Amino acid sequence: STVEWDPEETGKSGYDHYMLKEIHEQPRALRQCLQSRVDELGGQVTLEELGDINPSSVQFVACGTSYHAALYGAQLLQSVGIPAQAFIASEYATSVPPIGDNLVIGVTQSGETADTLSALREARRRGARTLAVTNVVGSTAARECDDVLYIRAGPEIGVAATKTFASQLVTLSLLTLQLDGEEDNREAIAGLRDLPSNVQAILDDTKAKEIAEEYHDSDAYFFIGRGLHYPVALEGALKFKEISYEHAEGFPAGELKHGPLALVTDNTPVFAVVTGDGEQARKTIGNVKEVEARDAPVIAVTDGVSDVERYADHVLRIPECTPRTAAVLANVQLQLVSYHAAAQLGRPIDKPRNLAKSVTVE
Ligand code: G6P
Repeated sequence: STVEWDPEETGKSGYDHYMLKEIHEQPRALRQCLQSRVDELGGQVTLEELGDINPSSVQFVACGTSYHAALYGAQLLQSVGIPAQAFIASEYATSVPPIGDNLVIGVTQSGETADTLSALREARRRGARTLAVTNVVGSTAARECDDVLYIRAGPEIGVAATKTFASQLVTLSLLTLQLDGEEDNREAIAGLRDLPSNVQAILDDTKAKEIAEEYHDSDAYFFIGRGLHYPVALEGALKFKEISYEHAEGFPAGELKHGPLALVTDNTPVFAVVTGDGEQARKTIGNVKEVEARDAPVIAVTDGVSDVERYADHVLRIPECTPRTAAVLANVQLQLVSYHAAAQLGRPIDKPRNLAKSVTVE
């Protein structure tokens, strides 16, 4: 169930930074993640390493980017009727959530983050079954948990997590499909199958770079989204602040008017993730109009199904797809914006100040 990666590949292969290389490795990482786990014709997902696992409810613990993946995973499980909640690992012990017969899932790229390991140990102490969703074979989380599910992203060198986040989202989608008890998941599987080529289409688009060139000198950057796009908004902002050192915040789109709107001016670009044309899209478009009325530059990350473009100054296009995969695709556009903004600002992209790839202290 693990995939061998050639050590040669850990060079920058002509890219200026590991981060850009790893952003471009996403189609391949996602193919590896899906390989031999989906039966497209039969509509079945099989995560061999998990065997028979059938939790009645789930708690996620994670930090940083992995916490955003956990928020996404919790929403997916909820949507198929499995109660699920995501916790910031360092707050888990103090929030004293009842363990009951929860499965506790630690999402951790490195498998070595002290806060996450400590939350998983707390869960085990209280009798929970634990599962590590990780990239690193033989990592501490992999060894200490009852079960392990590998995201198979291959080595990630850049401190800012990129391809591992995409692989976490897809792994959690697979986990949801395996657990949801549906006989036929053909449509969802087809969405996942198309993901690598859809990501590639975004990587070939130059619009994110143009937007970074135009706006890298702004006062602050806001990212908004609803539902599955809320974790994408959080991740878009985290990536932006980590590598550009500019102030960036992600908000649930509906929350903007309850405070953060006071910060919005004509010099604070707002990135709004809007896909499809359902209730969530309609409401987010309402929030977009609120920031547009304050003259903020609006950049819509959209599949073009709704009319959000009418209220946006720029559009970052993603291919039309299922909501689950839209989150992965929208995130790729935002990764590119962050990367190019940081490059414009001359930041040391692969090793941002004050940050470490893996934080082994609490
Ligand atoms: C560090 C990194 C973040 C990462 C977080 C969790 O803070 O700088 O990029 O998201 O740790 O890492 P993990 O390995 O547990 O996913």
